[in-house]
Amino acid sequence: MTHSATGVIRKAVIPVAGFGTRMLPLTKALPKEMMPICNKPIIQYAVEEAAASGIEEVILITRADKSILESYFVPNPDLERFLEDRGREQELRLVRDLSSLVRISTVRQPSPRGLGDALRWARSAVGDETFAVILPDAVIDAHPPVLAQLMAAYHLHPGCWVATQPVEPADVSRFGMLEVTSVENASFPGRLFRVSSMIEKPRTGEAPSNYGVFGRYLLRPEIFDFLDSAQADAKGEIQLTDALAEYCQRAPLYALRFEGMHYDAGDRSGYLQVMLHFALKDAELGAAVHRLLATLGSN
Ligand code: UTP
Repeated sequence: MTHSATGVIRKAVIPVAGFGTRMLPLTKALPKEMMPICNKPIIQYAVEEAAASGIEEVILITRADKSILESYFVPNPDLERFLEDRGREQELRLVRDLSSLVRISTVRQPSPRGLGDALRWARSAVGDETFAVILPDAVIDAHPPVLAQLMAAYHLHPGCWVATQPVEPADVSRFGMLEVTSVENASFPGRLFRVSSMIEKPRTGEAPSNYGVFGRYLLRPEIFDFLDSAQADAKGEIQLTDALAEYCQRAPLYALRFEGMHYDAGDRSGYLQVMLHFALKDAELGAAVHRLLATLGSN
């Protein structure tokens, strides 16, 4: 039986080949996905979410000058020996855990021609099965992880899925926006939708609803044909949103209103907020950060 037939989603694609222009100059030499949130880089949150959702293989879509992202998950015997010799068990575990989280393979996108183009390069690594996509700069603190929430919904309605939440009217131009109708389901009351159209970053007032797409997808392999025939936009980029807009005219595309806190770690404000979110939750840092915020707030 194929994996698509059993409904098990084993692979997650994490595209990391973009230029991260909103965070320049920092991202000129340091990939956005390696920027730290407390003591872990952004990419680690994404890979941990995949592993916690039962994903067996992560396919990273990288660029030639982003090999630091690939090496982060590869064992470092010299470092491990150094820590072992000094009895630094805790640090040793942190380092070793990285390479045992999940199997990681990489594919190169020759040049950053958009998220839709990036995904096309993963076609042969994905094969003929439904797969997950995680955009790592959409950092979502959720229990269970958003990907696991989507998978539970997928088992009720096999099809393509996007994670959604309402977006403030002033923010719609930063999101893919959805036209939706409710799907009643006792397990997810008021949280499932069928998508009838989708538009990338509309102008304020032109969004078909207030539901945006938040960087998590479950995609059926047929999406690759839609990506292949998608037209490049005015910037020469292939958008996943355009391929999904075509797809939903022919096959079911659903949206799940997920439970969890989302931050866009790819812009300065979202990055600062997600750093504070995790620092406040951190057992060692939380109290000090609370005190600092109280002091700053009273000045
Ligand atoms: P973003 O639009 O958030 O990332 O794409 P970006 O293009 O790197 O950043 P800005 O907008 O210029 O600041 C979402 C994800 O898709 C990847 C990015 O690396 C990011 O993880 N991506 C984007 C690719 O892999 N290839 C592309 O051509 C574009």
